[in-house]
Amino acid sequence: MAQQQQQLCSSPFLKPFFLKAPVSVSGRGRQRRHTLPASEFRNLTPQDAISVFEIEREAFVSVSGECPLTLEEVLHFLRLCPELSLGWFEEGQLVAFVIGSGWDKERLAQEALMTHVPDTPTVHIHVLSVHRQCRQQGKGSILLWRYLQYLRCLPGLRRALLVCEEFLVPFYRKAGFKEKGASAIAVGSLSFVEMEYPLGGSAFERRNSGC
Ligand SMILES: CC(C)(COP(=O)(O)OP(=O)(O)OC[C@H]1O[C@@H](n2cnc3c(N)ncnc32)[C@H](O)[C@@H]1OP(=O)(O)O)[C@@H](O)C(=O)NCCC(=O)NCCS
Repeated sequence: MAQQQQQLCSSPFLKPFFLKAPVSVSGRGRQRRHTLPASEFRNLTPQDAISVFEIEREAFVSVSGECPLTLEEVLHFLRLCPELSLGWFEEGQLVAFVIGSGWDKERLAQEALMTHVPDTPTVHIHVLSVHRQCRQQGKGSILLWRYLQYLRCLPGLRRALLVCEEFLVPFYRKAGFKEKGASAIAVGSLSFVEMEYPLGGSAFERRNSGC
């Protein structure tokens, strides 16, 4: 795990980058005032749990009444496997995140919702969520793409699995996931489709992320 953490720190996908910010020219002396809305991708920590849960609660509670992860579960996974999470921060504010954990069976089962199995080739993506004010701007797709490319750099990982409701199947299909059929997982009256993304292979896919 220590070796994995070290590799994470040197991962090219976690280096902060800056949006192409407008440079405003102001004042009589035409002094340049740089406004730098810094945009950063990094692993989440337990300190981010409240921000994560706020985005999650807004996204899910009003829609289905259920969050994929409770605050306790967010903390649980961010303590156990922070390296399987990724947050997108703009000016220090969390705008989107993804949380995953390890899983060790061919298909996801109900206990996968609470479980992290270390050192396995499968990542279970529990939740991807974008702040309400930032949706439909490509951020969900960009974050997912960066996360998947990042997972490719972690040693030993072979695939990512998730479950989603039927209406999001086209979104994940577009990101490269393939349907594995109806999931055994159910939450209340909600049923899900299970989807898989292969992480093996050497070539990095290119993406015009627009960043
Ligand atoms: C789903 C979600 C992550 C997508 O992120 P986003 O930044 O809004 O999406 P993008 O702008 O990258 O992509 C938009 C595409 O996703 C599709 N999409 C996004 N939300 C959708 C929804 N609720 N229903 C159907 N399609 C949806 C759009 O049709 C669009 O497709 P198009 O490019 O062909 O028009 C985001 O809407 C969200 O956080 N939703 C609430 C939480 C959630 O449902 N998470 C997923 C389950 S864990």
